This record gives sequence, C-alpha cells and structure tokens, in this order.
Amino acid sequence: MKVTVVGSGNVGATVANVLATKGFASEVVLIDIKEGLSEGKAMDIMQTSHMLNFDTTVIGVTNDYAATAGSQVVVVTSGIPRKPGMTREQLIGTNAKIVKSVVDQILAHSPEAILIIVSNPMDAMTYLTLKDTKLPRNRIIGQGGMLDSSRFRYYLAEALKEAGYPATPTDIDGMVVGGHADKTMVPLVSLATYRGIPVTQFLSEEAIQKAVEATKVGGATCTKLLGTSAWYAPGAAAAALVEAIALDAKKLIPCCVYLDGEYGEKDLCIGVPVILGKNGIEKIVEVEFSEAEKAKFAESVAAAREVNSKIGDALK
Ligand code: LAC
Repeated sequence: MKVTVVGSGNVGATVANVLATKGFASEVVLIDIKEGLSEGKAMDIMQTSHMLNFDTTVIGVTNDYAATAGSQVVVVTSGIPRKPGMTREQLIGTNAKIVKSVVDQILAHSPEAILIIVSNPMDAMTYLTLKDTKLPRNRIIGQGGMLDSSRFRYYLAEALKEAGYPATPTDIDGMVVGGHADKTMVPLVSLATYRGIPVTQFLSEEAIQKAVEATKVGGATCTKLLGTSAWYAPGAAAAALVEAIALDAKKLIPCCVYLDGEYGEKDLCIGVPVILGKNGIEKIVEVEFSEAEKAKFAESVAAAREVNSKIGDALK
C-alpha cells in the first residue's frame, strides 16, 4: 500500500514515522511546499530503518504531486498549527485555502484515494473537502475523535491512579464524540470503563469532571507547554486510522464524518463512532448517549455549523 502524508511539519512527520515503524505500508510519500523539509525528514526516518527493523520506504518531495500518484490513503496535515491562546477555529482563514488546494492536487494524481483530514479546524476542513470534491462520504474522514479519546483514556487513568487504582491508558475504554473543539467535544462518561467496569464505580463525580475538562483542553494544554500544537498523539491517531483502513480492520473508532440523518443531523461533518475498514467509513454506528450527553452533542453540532458558515468567506 502507498500512503501520502501532505505536510512535513511535526504532525505529518510523526504520521510518516509511525507508519514506517508499523511496517504495513510499502511506501510513504511525505510532501511539503518547504524546500528540502520532506526530503530531510524522510531521510532521517529511513536512517532508523535498520535499528527499528522496518521495510517501508519513506520518500520526501517538495511540492511534486506526481510523486504521490496512486496513493490509496492520503493524510492531509497541511496548514498552520495554533499558538498558545488560539482556538482551532481561528485557523480557518489560513487553512481553508491551503486544504482545498492540497486536496485538489492530490485527487488529480490519486483519484481513488481515501482522504484523512487532520488540518484544523478539522471538522470544518473535513466538511469543506466533502463539499469541494463531491466524493462519497466513506472516503472523507476527519481525525479528531481518535486523538481526543486517547487523551480521555489518559486522563481517566490518571484519575484512577489518584483514587488508588493502578490504571494505565490501555486499561481504559472510552470515546469522545462531537467536534474536535475545546469547549464542545463530548467525552462519553456514561460509556467509559476500567477493564469493562464503568469508571463511575471507581471515581467521584468531581474526579470524573476533572478528567472530562482536562480532555477537552488536552490540545490547548500541550500547546501552552510546547509553544505550538502537539504532534505525537495527533500523528499516532492519524496513523491508527490509516492502519485500520490498510488492514481492513473494521475497527470501531470515533471519526469526523458527514452525517445525513444519523444522530438526527444532516449536512455537517462531526465526530461519531464509525467502523473503519478498506472502504474508509464502512458504517456509521448509532449508540445511545445519556440525556446530558445528547444535549452536549447538540451544542457541539451547533458550534460546528457556526464554523462551517465561515468557510465561504475563508476561501475568498
Ligand atoms: C490537538 C490539535 C493538533 O488537539 O488539534 O493537539
């Protein structure tokens, strides 16, 4: 399988690095507009291949979309990341034009590709891609829920440790739906478990709320510490989506997808549980949220629609 990663910044390079170490792709192409950046990162990754024992070939190119031809999956990380104090939504003015131009060039060379959108504001960039390309919705996937769920598991594990249970994130099952946005993402507390037992049996309401709030600002917390947005977890999350598609794993993962009546909503892209396999989104899975979660999901939908309403101006 050939995979292209557009954007060789921190997130894009991490996607390529994780894909290489996983070894299921035969070729990964890193592409960026910045002269030499992709070539340098690809070379650096390839020089780990003996030590990390992988046979994936990582190639770096500067703006040469011909080199991406025939990619089965393309991860779009292009655009600027946020700086401390910024919201993801504030990036729309810069990133909308970049994402549109990148996607058009990618599809000119890989018309059958499944697209994974990572660029922020991700839910709006996924919607823009869907509207712009008119591709079937199974091929346009936004990455947000995988990352936010992973952060949720991390913060729940931390809360459990504080409460005297020796949990690590792999002991936790939990999902975040809704938009990939600080205020309105929806960690599904009612469905979160510690080795199959609801976390509500171990944690106080206060401890759970602390984990929920930490999850919601998980990206902003890293941005504040790093001076730019995070990359290890966002990169690993995008790579996990590529893996589910490449291996036709049919995994249940929250992804940003176009809704056409599911969850009572139409004409927007937002995070919900889906089955991910070789066709991209193979099924949208409708699960029962608690009444409070339903209300929060509705708020998240409204916030996503508000950002979508700014796409037209952002493209001017
Ligand atoms: C984050 C950014 C990449 O959540 O959206 O870290």
